[in-house]
Amino acid sequence: MDKNTWFVKARFGLFLHWGIYAIPAKGEWTYANDKWKPGEYEGLINEFNPVNYDPALWAELARKGGMKYVVFTTRHHDGFCMFDSHYTDYKITNTPYGKDTTRMLTDAFRAAGLRVGFYHSLPDWTHPGYADQESPEYIQRGELHTPTAEQYRAYVALLYNHVEQLMTEYGKIDLLFLDYTSKYKAAEDYFDRERLLAMIYKHQPKILVNDRLAYYKDNVRDFDYYTPEICVPNQQQQVKGRPVLWETCATMNDHWGYCRGDENYKPLEALICGLAGCVSRNGNLLLNIGPDETGRFPAGATTRLKELSKWMKLNGESIHGAGKSEFQPPHGGIYTQKKNYLYLHLMQPPLGDIILPQLFDKVEKITLLRDASDVPMITYWGGELLKNGELRIRPVGAKAGDVLKIKLNHWYPAPNRDLAEGFTKRKIWQSKCNS
Ligand code: GLC
Repeated sequence: MDKNTWFVKARFGLFLHWGIYAIPAKGEWTYANDKWKPGEYEGLINEFNPVNYDPALWAELARKGGMKYVVFTTRHHDGFCMFDSHYTDYKITNTPYGKDTTRMLTDAFRAAGLRVGFYHSLPDWTHPGYADQESPEYIQRGELHTPTAEQYRAYVALLYNHVEQLMTEYGKIDLLFLDYTSKYKAAEDYFDRERLLAMIYKHQPKILVNDRLAYYKDNVRDFDYYTPEICVPNQQQQVKGRPVLWETCATMNDHWGYCRGDENYKPLEALICGLAGCVSRNGNLLLNIGPDETGRFPAGATTRLKELSKWMKLNGESIHGAGKSEFQPPHGGIYTQKKNYLYLHLMQPPLGDIILPQLFDKVEKITLLRDASDVPMITYWGGELLKNGELRIRPVGAKAGDVLKIKLNHWYPAPNRDLAEGFTKRKIWQSKCNS
């Protein structure tokens, strides 16, 4: 199997931002953004004891929510390792908790049938070998030191060694999300990119590595997948003029790392709509949760996962294995497509009838996916306003977040928009398809 296939079919993953920053509970940037006395933040290592950590429970919630993979923060910018690093004492196994959270997580998620990915930060704010204008020293005091050659070498060696340990001691790793996207980031050669990547692919030949080793993407090597953030791009992502694999990562509320009091959870419809929007442009969504300092998902996040689970049970086929459609969606809708099935995701309850462009003589049957009820095609009324092969349908009782399953009368190859636009042109196009 092509190494990309699982990723394209999966469409939906779980991002986890978890570290000692869950204790102050102000998000994962607190070390840089807030005032800390020297050694105070690092001292949290003596407090971290997430006794409620139950990765099997997390995996089950994620699986039921329709997520097919997980990406876990093995180290964030604060430098704290959530795995049993051989190269630093600033790590999970030196907390009162004492266990390797990364190993527990990989075991539990694999057992639940999910793929496993690691997030690893390129910057390490505790290391003198890296600093830029987003480092704590600059944010807090406006200072920016230049690492000595020796500090730089030590920093790059630590990054390499950490990643090598993660690539060799935790079984098959499906994704690597190297992070930091900022125009202030050091030039990508700073991370000794090619040597790092050669090592990664040597140990994990089928791994997919993301694009964040470079800020601008067009003048550098290709990456396996590209990672926009907290948005649905308006088109299938392209790099160097070619379509690429991509995944948007997004928060469920307003923080990645746990933030006490942030109850601003996006409504279910926003999550579904975001997910369908990504799939409709051939992309994935990596939806984030920041577990708390005891090892629990915040209640708001669990609620959303359970809602997603209900939705997925009825509508998941419109997401998994689905992708872009070349048909033009109607007002208020998003299309995903799988072979000869079009899935119309409704972003809001329809005003009444829905007018489907281009589909007049192409549809065998339409149902409301959640209960398989028939959605009638209205041919006896309202037809005088239809243009260019439009089809009028009546989805009675449809709500925001509902999906209409449209069975096409055959599997149309991706139509060319221009040809599909006008009736005459459409006929020409159709006869081409049939020939
Ligand atoms: C943002 C945040 C970072 C987070 C990342 C996830 O860049 O600054 O902390 O890990 O998003 O993509």
